[in-house]
Amino acid sequence: MTQSDLLRLCATDAVPDDAPLKVELPGHAPFAVYHIEGNYYVTDDTCTHGAASLSEDGELNGFQIECTWHFGIFDVRTGEVVARPCTEPLKIWPVTVQDGAVYISLD
Ligand code: FES
Repeated sequence: MTQSDLLRLCATDAVPDDAPLKVELPGHAPFAVYHIEGNYYVTDDTCTHGAASLSEDGELNGFQIECTWHFGIFDVRTGEVVARPCTEPLKIWPVTVQDGAVYISLD
C-alpha cells in the first residue's frame, strides 16, 4: 500500500460521535464516515435500497445505521444488511487514521 492509494476524507475531529459525516469528493460517490467507540468506519453514503443519504436520513444506533426512508438497517463495520427491505450490502472502505485525518484505501 503506497501513500497514493490513500484518499483523505476529513479531519478526525470533524466526525461527530453520534451521527455520520457525509464527505463528497469529486469523482467518487459520497462517503459516510462514522466515529464509534473510538474507531472510525467508512461506508458508501447512499442506501442500497433507494437514493437516501445515510448521513442525512439515517439514524445511528451503536454500530447500526438505520435508513429512515424504509427502515432498512446496515452494520457499518461489515456493510451487512441487518434489516430489510435492504438486501444488498453497503460498501465499506478500509480506513487508515494518520496525522489527525481519516483516509480510505481505494480498490
Ligand atoms: S431507501 Fe433506504 S431503506 Fe429504502
